[in-house]
Amino acid sequence: MLRPWEVQFWLEDSPGKTLHTKLINKLTTDIKSGRLTSGSMLPGTRALATKLQVNRKTVQQVYEELESQGWLVTKPRFGTFVSEDLPEQGLSERDESLVNNTKSASELVEFLYQGALCSYSGVEANNDGIPDTRLIPYQLLARTYRKVCINLSRRSNLGYSDPRGAIELRNSVRKMLSEDRYMTCTTEQVCIVRGSQMGIYLTSRILAPSKGAIVMEELCYSPARAAFESNGFKIIKCKLDHHGLNISHLREILQCNKVAGIYITPHHQYPTTVSMPMDRRLTLLELSRKYKFAVIEDDYDHEFHYQANPIPPLASLPNAENVVHIGSMSKVFAPGLRLGYISADEKFIERAAQEIVLIDRQGNSITEHVLSDLMESGEVRRHIRKTRKEYESRRNFAASEFARIFADKVSFTLPTGGMAIWVDISKLVKGNDLSNLASKDSTLNTFYTNEQVNPTHIRFGFGALTEEEITQSIRNLSHKLQLI
Ligand SMILES: Cc1ncc(COP(=O)(O)O)c(C=O)c1O
Repeated sequence: MLRPWEVQFWLEDSPGKTLHTKLINKLTTDIKSGRLTSGSMLPGTRALATKLQVNRKTVQQVYEELESQGWLVTKPRFGTFVSEDLPEQGLSERDESLVNNTKSASELVEFLYQGALCSYSGVEANNDGIPDTRLIPYQLLARTYRKVCINLSRRSNLGYSDPRGAIELRNSVRKMLSEDRYMTCTTEQVCIVRGSQMGIYLTSRILAPSKGAIVMEELCYSPARAAFESNGFKIIKCKLDHHGLNISHLREILQCNKVAGIYITPHHQYPTTVSMPMDRRLTLLELSRKYKFAVIEDDYDHEFHYQANPIPPLASLPNAENVVHIGSMSKVFAPGLRLGYISADEKFIERAAQEIVLIDRQGNSITEHVLSDLMESGEVRRHIRKTRKEYESRRNFAASEFARIFADKVSFTLPTGGMAIWVDISKLVKGNDLSNLASKDSTLNTFYTNEQVNPTHIRFGFGALTEEEITQSIRNLSHKLQLI
């Protein structure tokens, strides 16, 4: 089997007078610093001696000496490895003062980070509405990746390129936005990003906190709040009602505060799932023009609306000049694909691309060409049509299972789209302390309250679950909630 890498050594900077001591010191410091971890395979004595231009005997003696001290082990016919059971040592640590502590992460960022470390999938964990990555057309994707790799390398087209993304994909996205989403935009108004979250973060870098606060709904997508806060924005919470953003409250906020922008998920409000009615959309845009604030439209699950007509995004309506429209392929295919887009005014897109040059230089050209190919051949549309039916049927099944298992102990309105149901659990939870649910229980991640007391709702994600898994998951939930 091929080894992934051959470990390299540089003896010049190692302390010691002789080559023997230099090599001893080099190997032990590399082990102590963690560069060579337990189980790492070292080069053979002949190969290392040739590389370092030393006598092979010297290397053999060094290996033997380190083996006798417990740093290395030799496995006959396999080679020499860093020992699994290293001698006691004071491990070197990085100087913590090098890290800028004045910029340490907020509690929210730390919470999101810890959540991101235990990524969830399948029925074992409750989630807030992730897609089923088992549904991706992996054979088609694999074939297209193969084709794109061959074409790009033959045309010598895999170098540094436009930070706004491959022109082919920007054209395909522009076409999709205009033909499928009623939007009018040019290719210069489209920038490819790794996912909506990157689009939101870039927006928070481009808007100016000196121009005012960011308005968010009182229940909202907390990674977006964290992005705006991390770039110095004050957040003002606007009330929500059964139709989403409460426009009268927004007016009050605008009369008393400087506002730089509003972050909003009008297609299916996160987390409550309601769609914003057209009259509110139009008023919001009029207000954005009057008070000169940006409208950050996070259209994270546009493809999954189960009623006859898709709702036109804010960016397609009159007075949409200040809208920054952000979309993603995470729900269509898989979050791991990391592909999204921003559509906004050309100047805004240029600023976004300048930020990309600083943090990423550009996106992943291969994946961008693959997606463009699949969009142009109609495969993306076909996949959306197929999965939309599947998710709609899972939504209906989850709703019927909630009614069967919980009867009237919980209530909900059937969502018109998306991958989650917003379930009112207040009757069950009333007055009960939830702290007896283990803190690592992922169910807790999907509980919501707007008063920071006992949860009143749960956002139950059905998208990633088959019917059997939905039943299992709702049963698990009912056991947990009855236990309270
Ligand atoms: C409301 C909302 N916005 C943004 C995202 C992030 O999506 P992406 O994977 O495109 O970064 C999600 C993910 O589920 C989401 O629910």
